[in-house]
Amino acid sequence: MRKPILAANWKMNKTPAEAVEFVKALHTQVMAYPSVETIVCPPFVALPAVVEALRDAPVGVGAQNLHWKASGAYTGEVSAPMLAGWVEYVIVGHSERRQFFAETDKMVNQKVKLALQHGLKPIVCVGENLEHNKVGLTDPRVTWQVRAALADLTAEQVRDVVIAYEPIWAVGTGRTATPEWANRVCGSVARAAIEELYGQEVAQAIRIQYGGSANEKNIGDLMAMPDIDGVLVGIAGLTLDSFVEMVRVTASLY
Ligand code: PGA
Repeated sequence: MRKPILAANWKMNKTPAEAVEFVKALHTQVMAYPSVETIVCPPFVALPAVVEALRDAPVGVGAQNLHWKASGAYTGEVSAPMLAGWVEYVIVGHSERRQFFAETDKMVNQKVKLALQHGLKPIVCVGENLEHNKVGLTDPRVTWQVRAALADLTAEQVRDVVIAYEPIWAVGTGRTATPEWANRVCGSVARAAIEELYGQEVAQAIRIQYGGSANEKNIGDLMAMPDIDGVLVGIAGLTLDSFVEMVRVTASLY
């Protein structure tokens, strides 16, 4: 059985002090739910303080982004070797990065490779926009993104990847995909694409999250689906009570 993984992506929210206050309360409340892997992804500047506050706590830490090169003249950027040893996970190819920072599938692939080379587990975001969804292009779009993100990886490396299916029309909109839709894309599209590349055993081992307006009210129905192994959550992950409730509901199913 795949261990469920709930990751809060805080985006450009919370100061280091606010982040520390949150995770201190979070870790005492989620200690009761070891069947769920609980992760927070704070802004870069909060990472050292959050990592310190969570030392020996059952809450993991991820970064929200990394550069596709290990070092160099890239003002304002943060690279895999800088994150290595600090965080366990790193979000790659979030739709906001693709949309507002012009990230391409090629950059996403380079970032995934560099993350893995430095011992970081990438949470790779894929998902169709509203236009593609409306004209029935979800499946080829998601298949393409999964294949592009994982290009040139060995089966051993792919095991450390988490995929997050995040339909862009659902991210931050309050409009959640139905559990059936999300499950179909996670399973029959994303997992199927991995199976085609790496075989059934690897595909069954990889965790695939859903993301897009997941919250404490809809998580039960989402997590009850066989191919949804967790959620990547934005807005609801900013509020302690909501996020803890999401972990609690998930734990009740696992
Ligand atoms: P949301 O964000 O939960 O606010 O829709 C999800 C995400 O961006 O990962």
